[in-house]
Amino acid sequence: MSIDFSKIPTPCYLIEEELLRNNLQLIKSVQEQAGITIILAFKGFSMWRAFPIIREYITGAAASGACEAKLASEEMKTLAHTYSAAFQQSDFKDVLENSSHITFNSLTQLSRYLPDIQNFSRKISVGLRVNPEFSEVETALYNPCSPGTRLGILAEQLGSVLPEGVEGLHFHTLCESGAEDLVKTLEAFEAKFGKYLANLKWINMGGGHLMTRKGYDLDLLINTLKAFKQRWNNLEVILEPGSAFAWETGVLVSEVVDVVETKGIKTAILNISFTAHMPDCLEMPYKPRIRGAYQDAIDGKPTYRMGGNSCLAGDYMGFWSFDDVLNAGDQVVFEDMIHYTMVKSTMFNGVHHPSIGIWNENKGFKLLRSFNFDDYKNRMA
Ligand SMILES: Cc1ncc(COP(=O)(O)O)c(C=O)c1O
Repeated sequence: MSIDFSKIPTPCYLIEEELLRNNLQLIKSVQEQAGITIILAFKGFSMWRAFPIIREYITGAAASGACEAKLASEEMKTLAHTYSAAFQQSDFKDVLENSSHITFNSLTQLSRYLPDIQNFSRKISVGLRVNPEFSEVETALYNPCSPGTRLGILAEQLGSVLPEGVEGLHFHTLCESGAEDLVKTLEAFEAKFGKYLANLKWINMGGGHLMTRKGYDLDLLINTLKAFKQRWNNLEVILEPGSAFAWETGVLVSEVVDVVETKGIKTAILNISFTAHMPDCLEMPYKPRIRGAYQDAIDGKPTYRMGGNSCLAGDYMGFWSFDDVLNAGDQVVFEDMIHYTMVKSTMFNGVHHPSIGIWNENKGFKLLRSFNFDDYKNRMA
């Protein structure tokens, strides 16, 4: 049953259960074929009402700090692999209680918190994030290896042996990347950090492995990981993608509220905002696809910018063409709006936050959450 959009309230982030299950099946099969562990990075997708579905396939979670680690315990029913650019003392008790692995971004953070970990009632495995100083990511905003980066310890900052208590290394250098990028990254990583690997228990290769994108070379990924494991059979290999889980699994359904025209440019003003609800479009930047629209302007067809409903002058994108003229009340459906949307949205201008729903082929639409004035007010004091 294809989605009946007349049943969807706007605005709404709408995930399709079957598409999510397809991604999960693929990720699970990579995990099994390569003999590795794949965990979900909550930073990209933490729609916890979907965790019961996820747990049918994948059981682990990667957290960026105390809140995500707590969410892992409460809703994913697992202890998290937690890494933060800098842990704060006031949060660290929650981090300890909800993590199986804790990875530090600096040697000072390691020495500050290692005693707490060693005195904790349960064993927690300790890792360090290192920087292989190699990344193919071209957008500076998403490149953790750009000069002067604060993310990860450089090889030159480590001694000939790793500090006492460290059991794993973590690197994260990819972003929406192919398996070819991992191959090159591993070369750089092993050249710089290979001397430590024989004495470790695990290696976490971060996120950015977009294995659910069409055309991703899964065989190359699996063979690369298998070959790595053959070289280092003492190591558990962990990947922590976020985007790959929710890639192309759903849409943001919006509605035209008004159409304005200035010097021949028509803008359809929507009941959503790029900056508040699809921030990566402006930050990356990239132009999202709209269902049923032409991705570029076509002469002779009704052509519009899409405008957000915030006051930010740059809260628009365009142009797209349509077969028919747009009017107030028409739906506009943005594709692939599940990963890095809900997790990054804001209530800037108090604009109405999209509700969150799920579509199941047999059961149809289920509204999971809607937002109101109290949600807006309770973020402030
Ligand atoms: C340390 C770390 N792990 C995992 C991820 C998830 O990456 P992605 O969602 O691109 O797979 C990120 C993303 O920024 C990250 O910084």
